Amino acid sequence: MPPRTFILNFKNYPEVMGEGSLGLAKAAASLGASLGIDMVVSPPTPMLHTVASSVGIPVFAQRAELGEQGKSTGATIPESIKAAGCAGSLLNHSESRIPLDVLAKAVERLRGLGLKSCACAETTKEAVEISALDPEFLAIEPPELIGTGRAVSKARPELITETAAALAKAGYSGRLLCGAGIVSGDDVSAAIRLGTQGILVASSVVKAPDFHAKMRELGTAMRP
Ligand code: G3P
Repeated sequence: MPPRTFILNFKNYPEVMGEGSLGLAKAAASLGASLGIDMVVSPPTPMLHTVASSVGIPVFAQRAELGEQGKSTGATIPESIKAAGCAGSLLNHSESRIPLDVLAKAVERLRGLGLKSCACAETTKEAVEISALDPEFLAIEPPELIGTGRAVSKARPELITETAAALAKAGYSGRLLCGAGIVSGDDVSAAIRLGTQGILVASSVVKAPDFHAKMRELGTAMRP
């Protein structure tokens, strides 16, 4: 059984500006190694290269844009994400939504460069549509629970079981993750029991008084 995956989305919280990203990423890297879980970090765009050249775990951008490799001022394109040393990108996060046709091109372009995608979906229906693009990771995240501390695995368990069943029926072979409101080891164990292969988390770790301890609590609950 492949190791379970813990993707830590740093978002743009004040705690992860500049050096803050490096400290959190290094802590995540050492945790992943000690727990034997597949740890991935997603820092703010300006920190991608610094983090990717400082830690031995996969670093994902928080979004990838389809500007051309050339005259695309300000766009974070897959080629620059690769050049920064990243292993992939989050796509279609609730806070950074893109149309399905743009998502399809982004997954393809990233894949063409050997980069992985974690595509986010808000509903089971959207997850099934996105699964046809075969992203390596598919994260189901109900936007109303994001940042609330009310875990999707407790507040909306049916969303996970229905999505897992629908993806299995659709023949999706990637890893199903869930996110939104995950704050405790118990939330994580519930998510695994309901049929996911991992978690996508932000605030409970980034804003934790002791992010080492919080990551260890969540990571330990992921282990088989
Ligand atoms: O990408 C993960 C995120 O949206 C979940 O946020 O703060 O509820 O863990 P949070």
